[in-house]
Amino acid sequence: MDRRLFSQLLTLGAGAWAWPPKPAPPAAGAQAQPDAAAGDFSHPPANVGDFAARARAVLPPATFDYISTGSTDEVTLRDNVAAFQRLRLLPPLLAGVDQVSLATTLLGTPVRLPILLAPVAGQSLFHRDGVLASARAAAAAGTILGVSSSAGHSVEEVAEATDGPKWFQLYVPRDRTIARRIVERVERAGYRALILTVDLGERKDADKRNRFALPRERLLKQLTDMGFPVHAGMTLAVLNAVNEQAWDPALSWEVFDWLRSITRLPLLVKGVLRPEDADRAVRLGLDGIVVSNHGGRRLDGVPASIDQLEEVVAAVKGRATVLLDSGVRRGTDVLKALALGAQGVLIGRPYAWALAAGGEEGVTQLLTLLREELEVALQACGCASVQQVPRGLVLRSE
Ligand SMILES: Cc1cc2nc3c(=O)[nH]c(=O)nc-3n(C[C@H](O)[C@H](O)[C@H](O)COP(=O)(O)O)c2cc1C
Repeated sequence: MDRRLFSQLLTLGAGAWAWPPKPAPPAAGAQAQPDAAAGDFSHPPANVGDFAARARAVLPPATFDYISTGSTDEVTLRDNVAAFQRLRLLPPLLAGVDQVSLATTLLGTPVRLPILLAPVAGQSLFHRDGVLASARAAAAAGTILGVSSSAGHSVEEVAEATDGPKWFQLYVPRDRTIARRIVERVERAGYRALILTVDLGERKDADKRNRFALPRERLLKQLTDMGFPVHAGMTLAVLNAVNEQAWDPALSWEVFDWLRSITRLPLLVKGVLRPEDADRAVRLGLDGIVVSNHGGRRLDGVPASIDQLEEVVAAVKGRATVLLDSGVRRGTDVLKALALGAQGVLIGRPYAWALAAGGEEGVTQLLTLLREELEVALQACGCASVQQVPRGLVLRSE
């Protein structure tokens, strides 16, 4: 892969080039409220699509596109949502549950909601409080925040913002000394797990059209936060050059042996779609598998995550925690993922839009909305808890 493209991709967590995009597709199937004022939650959003509409109203178009679009033809982006919609629920009647519990424990971390915030880069571009706002909202909702290597604040800044549970998502620096130091800082700052994101192949047409790229100050901060040897006197061109050399583009499975040798934190691998890879990861001693296609932001044309989940769960055979992301837009999507064997899900774009729409309050509103949707769905299906969601609830309609 072109080295500059790869480095930009790692810095942003997504593509860096762009040209004027077609209007980004509404992510949720539902109608958005066109007149809703951003940041004003007296008129509450009714669904994830409403948050997307509010984000679109306040963000520069290129930033909205950076969040919302996917790679090349966006086949996988669309399929992530469509695949959930293809699945049908078949609830038993009169299965009566009074209260439902959304509480569970993921890799030793108790949560009150099995909907986690996925690692998302560049959050300071979406709202002035950036990932700090997301961290506070996650903590208030009792869930885990995945902190991107390119989140826009350092691991320590995020840790100071909240005591809530946090997992750090690592892109691996080429210089393993820098990689080791960041892992040590993550441990010291009290993060409870490491997520290694390993999927590749990003090529986002919209970002290319928009010439979307990080401004100098933000690139400087991101590289500084990760511990790269940069300083304020460097021009954007120099920072780009550092960035081009910064990341390891040729990882192999060996990286997990190395990580295991330097940390005792639970390890997750994110980007798994093949059951064989899940099995290999578990045999290497990994603790968690995130079934993910990066929300359709990496190689286009790969299957929807939800369509791969059952096979991955079968391969894992209960030896590791299985989570899923990509395309979760409704409480019923969460229920479907639980029924097919996930222990929890992560969301990316929905909270990026909510953050843009209203900072911490926006993300809190979103998590409340999804919590309510999941509670209604569990109750309608006679499930008293997220651990008691039977496989038989989900029908495949093909
Ligand atoms: C704006 C944006 C930036 C992202 N940055 C990262 C990143 O830095 N690291 C990472 O592992 N995943 C990143 N992702 C992918 C998410 O972690 C997650 O896999 C994906 O968003 C899930 O799909 P969804 O957006 O349909 O919920 C990013 C996603 C978005 C939308």
